[in-house]
Amino acid sequence: IGMRIRKAVFPVGGMGTRFLPATKALPKEMLPIVDKPLIQYAGEEAAAAGMEEFIFVTGRGKTAIEDHFDHSYELEDLLSSRDKTDELAALRAAIPDAGQVAYTRQQEPLGLGHAVWCARNLVGNEPFAVLLADDLIQSKTPCLQQMADAAAETGGNMVAVMDVPREHTGRYGILDVGQDDGHLAEVRGLVEKPDPAQAPSTLSVIGRYILMPEVFDYLGRKEKGAGGEIQLTDAMAKMIGEQPFHGLRFEGTRFDCGDKLGFLQATIAFGLDRDDLRDGLSTYLSEITAAG
Ligand code: UTP
Repeated sequence: IGMRIRKAVFPVGGMGTRFLPATKALPKEMLPIVDKPLIQYAGEEAAAAGMEEFIFVTGRGKTAIEDHFDHSYELEDLLSSRDKTDELAALRAAIPDAGQVAYTRQQEPLGLGHAVWCARNLVGNEPFAVLLADDLIQSKTPCLQQMADAAAETGGNMVAVMDVPREHTGRYGILDVGQDDGHLAEVRGLVEKPDPAQAPSTLSVIGRYILMPEVFDYLGRKEKGAGGEIQLTDAMAKMIGEQPFHGLRFEGTRFDCGDKLGFLQATIAFGLDRDDLRDGLSTYLSEITAAG
C-alpha cells in the first residue's frame, strides 16, 4: 500500500520464430509500428508511468536494441548540419540518462520466467514492473500507469487482463477469478495456456505485470511448465494467498505484435491515429475494401 515502483524489466530474449524471416537478424522488438520500434513504445510507456530504471534482458543478436537507446554521433551531426532540429530533438529525447539503463543477457531462451529471473540482482528487493514490448497498447492513460494507480490502492501483485474468445485460452495465462467488481478481479488461481475446456475463465494475462520481489524465489527453482519453458505464470501462481494479487481490466486496445495479424492491425490503428497519415491511410483503406 502506498508502494512505489521504480524499476521496469523488459524481457527481450525471445527468438521471435513467428516472425521469421524478419527476425533472423533483427530483434522482434525492433520491428516498427509506423516509424517507431516496439521497444521504444514500451520504454515510453514505462517512463510515462514514472519508472526511473530500465532493465533489458537481452540475448544474442539483440545489440540493435542497445544501439537504439544510445547516441549516434554521425546521425546527430548530419541532422544538425541540415537543420533538422525536430528530428534531432525526437532522437535525443528517446535516449535514457546515463546510468538509467542496464542490460543483462539471458544466455539461453529458457522461457519468460527465466528471462525475468535473470534481472533479479538488478531489481533487488523491491516491487518492479515487467513489460513485454510485443504487446502494444493503445490507450488514453498508459497501461502501466493505470496498473500503478490501482496497485497503489491494493498493494501486492497486479497483472493487466482482458477477455479473450474461449478458443484462444491456449495462448495465454488465464485467471481463476475470485471477487470481481468488473474493473479489478481478485486472482484466485493462474494457469498457463490451458485448453479451452479446462480454462477456469477467459480472462487472460497480457504483457504488463507489477510484481513483488518474492517472485524471484519461486523463479529460482527453475521448474519447467507449459511447453517445457520456465513460466512466469507458474511462479506468480505461488504468490497467490501470500500477498494481494489482482488483475486489472485496463482501458485501451492491446495488439499482439509478435503475431503477423496483430502487427498489421497495430500498424493500421497507430497509422490512423497519426495526423500526418490519417487521411491518406483511410482513403486507401476505403478504396481497397470497396474494391474487395
Ligand atoms: P513469446 O512467447 O512471444 O516468444 O515470448 P518469442 O520467442 O519472443 O516469439 P515466438 O513465439 O517464437 O514468435 C513472450 C515474451 O517473452 C520474452 C519474449 O522476448 C517476449 O517478449 N522471452 C520469451 C524472453 O525474453 N526469453 C525467453 O526465453 C522467452
